[in-house]
Amino acid sequence: MKTRRLIQFLTRKQFIPSLVSLLMLSVLLLVRVKYNNVSDSLGLSGASGLQTLFKHNINCSAIYDLDPVEVGKSLIIRRKKMMEDKDESLISLTGNCSFFTQFRGYNDVCVSEEERDFPLAYSLVVHKSAWMVERLIRAIYSPNNIYCIHYDQKSSAQFISAMESLSHCLPNVFIASKREAVFYASISRLKADLNCLSDLIRSEVKWRYVVNLCGQDFPLKSNIELVSELRRLNGSNMLETSRPSKMKRQRFTFHYEIQDMSFEYQKLPVITKKEKSPPPHGIEMFIGNAYFVLSREFVLHLNSSDVVRDFLAWSEDTYSPDEHFWATLVRLPGVPGEVPRSLPDITDLMSKTRLVKWHYLEENLYPPCTGEHVRSVCIFGAAEMRWLLNYGHWFANKFDPKVDPILIQCLEEKLEEKRRLFQSKTILTCRKG
Ligand SMILES: *[C@@H]1O[C@H](CO)[C@@H](O)[C@H](O)[C@H]1NC(C)=O
Ligand SMILES: *[C@@H]1O[C@H](CO)[C@@H](O)[C@H](O)[C@H]1NC(C)=O
Ligand SMILES: *[C@@H]1O[C@H](CO)[C@@H](O)[C@H](O)[C@H]1NC(C)=O
Ligand SMILES: *[C@@H]1O[C@H](CO)[C@@H](O)[C@H](O)[C@H]1NC(C)=O
Repeated sequence: MKTRRLIQFLTRKQFIPSLVSLLMLSVLLLVRVKYNNVSDSLGLSGASGLQTLFKHNINCSAIYDLDPVEVGKSLIIRRKKMMEDKDESLISLTGNCSFFTQFRGYNDVCVSEEERDFPLAYSLVVHKSAWMVERLIRAIYSPNNIYCIHYDQKSSAQFISAMESLSHCLPNVFIASKREAVFYASISRLKADLNCLSDLIRSEVKWRYVVNLCGQDFPLKSNIELVSELRRLNGSNMLETSRPSKMKRQRFTFHYEIQDMSFEYQKLPVITKKEKSPPPHGIEMFIGNAYFVLSREFVLHLNSSDVVRDFLAWSEDTYSPDEHFWATLVRLPGVPGEVPRSLPDITDLMSKTRLVKWHYLEENLYPPCTGEHVRSVCIFGAAEMRWLLNYGHWFANKFDPKVDPILIQCLEEKLEEKRRLFQSKTILTCRKG
């Protein structure tokens, strides 16, 4: 207990500027090893003084079982507001790549034959909290996959440096060659993903599917499970695609203008009275969310299609084009992995790409949020772990270690457990770094 306070004190005081390095961190780990009995097999000194990597003393199986005592314990831990780890500490840790990759277990990730023959690509559109990005990548990591990080042009210098440094340490993680300043609900969000997709199709890795994620997403399946489910898609795409309501139609029947905002959003598209022309090529509009699981063939098609190019240009002055672009394109007749227009709506609960809890649907469609709400979306709490893992979706949104650090810790543990379990029945290739 004393040690924990000491560690918290040290990290909170942030007297660890980036130049103080592994030496300082090493001391912290030695202290921790001694007191917390964490004798990790690496036998290395490291950065365990970091809040992020600090493992709370909690039984995740009991959390999963909704054991009231253990869930109660998690609530007490949650109440002690934790400070977020500084991006600088990731910069300093990734300063020594061999130490970093070993310490964070990247070298221990083995690949089954099934995974090896089915590489996945990721487009990560992120803008802050470097450690959370690292934990997300760690949770979806497989050495044969490929990861594109798009950081925001507006991100802090520390965050950008942490991302660059992270990509420098992992050969299959790279930074998007073109970066946007991303503004909420504007086309820049869509362009960020397109920039990554464009880099990813040029990559040597012949990935089969691409998934896009943001900094508040987290996986609910290990890579080997995901590969097995994506194989079963048999080339079709997976995403939300529904007929738009009259309200949502406004988003693309009127011309929107980006305007400066004073507070939370620096800029927002604002509706004008000017009506837009109908979409080009007689395209029928569908609406969904920004998240997709797309096949390689579909993405290659996007890159070569004039219809797609024109549709993108037409979408430029709409509201949140990311929420109709993908949903509409998968319904285009003849595209690879097409969702025929005749098929009924695919809602966010039917599509497995992203599990999101909307405040106004809680208790009707799902149990209430045990974390906190932000803009009517639930930031999940530990008591939702079982529901999340058993719903059948592949990823969920939103997670925040400041709202519930236990949930993320327990998901990491559970995913690792599932990876081991599924991989135990297969032949593995392990590359020790
Ligand atoms: C954790 O909780 C489970 C029950 O949910 C129990 O079976 C197990 O023994 C517990 N583990 C420890 C280390 O207490
Ligand atoms: C990097 O870390 C490794 C341990 O993984 C250590 O042996 C090596 O000396 C470190 N290199 C530098 C330059 O500190
Ligand atoms: C998979 O797709 C191919 C062609 O796209 C089709 O011929 C085949 O029947 C499909 N297999 C299954 C199991 O759906
Ligand atoms: C397709 O991708 C190439 C680069 O890979 C790019 O130069 C070209 O503009 C793209 N074409 C379309 C239609 O998006």
